[in-house]
Amino acid sequence: MKMFFENYSLKKHNSFRVEAEARYFFEFTSLNLVAKLLIKKEFAKLPKLIIGGGNNILFTKNFDGLVLQSKNTDIQIIKETTENVYLRCGAGLDWDSLVQFTVDNNWSGLENLSAIPGTVGAAPVQNIGAYGVEVSDSIIYIESLNIKYLQVEILPAKDCNFSYRNSFFKTKNGKENLIASVVFRLNKKHSFSIDYGEIRKELKDFSEINLQNIRQAIINIRKQKLPATESLPNAGSYFKNPIISNEKLQELHKKFPNVKNFPAKGEKHKLSAAQLIDLAGWKGTRHKNVGVYEKHALILVNYGSETGREISELANKIQADVTRKFGVDLVPEVNQF
Ligand code: EPU
Repeated sequence: MKMFFENYSLKKHNSFRVEAEARYFFEFTSLNLVAKLLIKKEFAKLPKLIIGGGNNILFTKNFDGLVLQSKNTDIQIIKETTENVYLRCGAGLDWDSLVQFTVDNNWSGLENLSAIPGTVGAAPVQNIGAYGVEVSDSIIYIESLNIKYLQVEILPAKDCNFSYRNSFFKTKNGKENLIASVVFRLNKKHSFSIDYGEIRKELKDFSEINLQNIRQAIINIRKQKLPATESLPNAGSYFKNPIISNEKLQELHKKFPNVKNFPAKGEKHKLSAAQLIDLAGWKGTRHKNVGVYEKHALILVNYGSETGREISELANKIQADVTRKFGVDLVPEVNQF
């Protein structure tokens, strides 16, 4: 099977479905093969980009380097106790297939993260989160290959510096770590997390509260609010929810008493980026061939632009407008190249 490509189209590897080419593209199942390639001088010196499903990436130009993508989809039970199961999962596994597998086995921990697009290897990088749960809550350790020193490293969760939509893997050093597999701890004894937003309301239509039904309720909620990439290309939330200080919140509430806030770590406050963009009047608007989704203001959608430049322009305009109106800076969650 062909694994190495030159001048390779990334269109099907980014959920905005924009055109961009990688000078080299390498899909692999074993770390040995990556090490063999990277030991060669011509590849060692190239810029490198590790991608999962491409659900959090915006390409605005070609990538003049080497793109690496794991195709390892193995799931192994590596330990089992009366209370927990420990699963080692290949980075290339589709995230939602893993969630489905855990729910089918009646193991809890990941059910609130149902229907999030992407791969297992990408999940820890931005510490995916939804409905009151973050993937870091279930991660024990990560196996990675340091692509600079070509050494395998085992990173316990405490060394991954997980926080809201952030981790060690987003730092300069962290970007040299290619995630090969992730070890999760799941629970045989369940404690559900269903107090966030609309989950309880959605669950009223189900006869009982169990993992399958929580998963289905979350899939239903997401379907109502978030567009499917196949019909309307997008990258989920484009910006992170801003986290601000107490003083800043008080100042903001003087002018805008209806701005929502949620408690964040360290006596800070999380605002809803969607609400700010919505209040600024951007929801449902169109800009050339791209726009802001009509049902959720945090989602930028591509109606048919061939390049990522229009999305980047729209994101810049929204950012500037929100800063001007509310004095709050939005930080993109999507990585731009
Ligand atoms: N809201 C508006 N206008 C809108 C949409 C929402 O005012 O157009 C308000 C809602 O009323 C609500 C608040 O914004 O009070 C928050 O909305 P929502 O519950 O939809 O969540 P979010 O903060 O916008 C985050 C994650 C999502 C995740 C949901 C559910 C971030 C950046 N986004 O969105 O993650 O699915 O919570 O937990 O943290 C993603 O990262 O790609 C993603 C979709």
